[in-house]
Amino acid sequence: MTAPRAAIALTVNGKPCAGTAEPRTHLADFLRHDLGLTGTHVGCEHGSCGACTVIVDGVASRSCLMLAVQADGMTVETIEGLASGDALNPLQQAFWDRHGLQCGFCTPGILMTLTAYLRDDPSPDAETLRVVLSGNLCRCTGYQNIVAAALDAAAQLRKGVAA
Ligand code: FES
Ligand code: FES
Repeated sequence: MTAPRAAIALTVNGKPCAGTAEPRTHLADFLRHDLGLTGTHVGCEHGSCGACTVIVDGVASRSCLMLAVQADGMTVETIEGLASGDALNPLQQAFWDRHGLQCGFCTPGILMTLTAYLRDDPSPDAETLRVVLSGNLCRCTGYQNIVAAALDAAAQLRKGVAA
């Protein structure tokens, strides 16, 4: 038997979106399967790895822990909203320049965590950034290049380079 679907209307990356979802569908699956925004990755699906991080109403949030129906009426930002066409934003560019991408699977979540954080704290130090990123698990090489990229991006943003 097919579960009933609820109507949802939300704003994603600045655009109004509408759809339907089963009550059990989490936001990550809705973004990926219903809206086609596959840049949000799903790793553990229980809130541990941070790969699925998006920004919901300005707050970095794990989209595997939030139901799609809970996002009704909310504003969601995903990795697809960072670049302008082919132009990377300063954070993305810094990751490119500093080789902060590493495995790539975790990167969208890392970028969304940092995007939300740098809006509140444009002058973080490396120690602080390691704490901020402690909810985004990287098991490939370490956080050195990721932190270096975030520090570079923060410096660019302080200079007024558009986010
Ligand atoms: S997939 Fe959501 S925290 Fe791991
Ligand atoms: S960046 Fe994905 S495991 Fe390290």
